[in-house]
Amino acid sequence: MSNDVFEVMSTMRAMRRLKPDPVPDALIHKILQAGVCAPNGGNTQIWRFLVIKDPAVKKAVQVIYKRAFDEWIGPRYLTSEPPPGITKEKYLRQHGAVEYLTDHYHEAPVWIVACLEDGPNPSRASGASIYPAVQNMLLAARALGLGSTLTTRHMRYATEADKAMGLPDGVHSYAILPIGYPMGNFGPVGRTKLSDVVFTEKWGQPYVEA
Ligand SMILES: Cc1cc2nc3c(=O)[nH]c(=O)nc-3n(C[C@H](O)[C@H](O)[C@H](O)COP(=O)(O)O)c2cc1C
Repeated sequence: MSNDVFEVMSTMRAMRRLKPDPVPDALIHKILQAGVCAPNGGNTQIWRFLVIKDPAVKKAVQVIYKRAFDEWIGPRYLTSEPPPGITKEKYLRQHGAVEYLTDHYHEAPVWIVACLEDGPNPSRASGASIYPAVQNMLLAARALGLGSTLTTRHMRYATEADKAMGLPDGVHSYAILPIGYPMGNFGPVGRTKLSDVVFTEKWGQPYVEA
């Protein structure tokens, strides 16, 4: 448990290995409450959140999620270079964890599916009204000692996945958060230096730390 927002942010690693132990509903309620504190366009609050514990529904979506891994993510991991600030060894560890979550996705005791009731033709900007809520929920889960990961891979087969979760027409899922008690420990996230990604005043002009 931590209430220090900077500590929570800097140690909110993707936690992909989760215990199947049940998570109290009161904690899920807190996470959802954190979600709806997020900014959203015009405060229209067209977000909708589906809490799923039903093993059959989770399994149906896991099959889709795994198919997307086998066809797309798995081969990409094997051929791509590690991202900035990440060693090859750490990247391979991440790959192992991604594969683990793929196989055990449905075993996370609770899923929160973040959706928007955004009609038949969502615009490119739609996600801007749901991902702040997703991040709030991830941070809240971390603060409560629960592990999760922002996952979107099911969207490779979005229509099929949304149908498997019983979403009505005009509602789309934007993220699935599998939530559970982590097997491992929270730890610092691996990111490149600020000076690699921040410029001052003009594009390309180095950022100097104050
Ligand atoms: C838009 C987006 C989609 C993501 N989708 C997935 C996913 O489907 N499965 C997964 O295991 N991780 C997913 N992630 C998690 C990222 O892989 C993770 O944040 C990144 O590797 C950094 O890892 P770290 O937070 O542990 O440092 C996603 C993250 C974002 C922002």
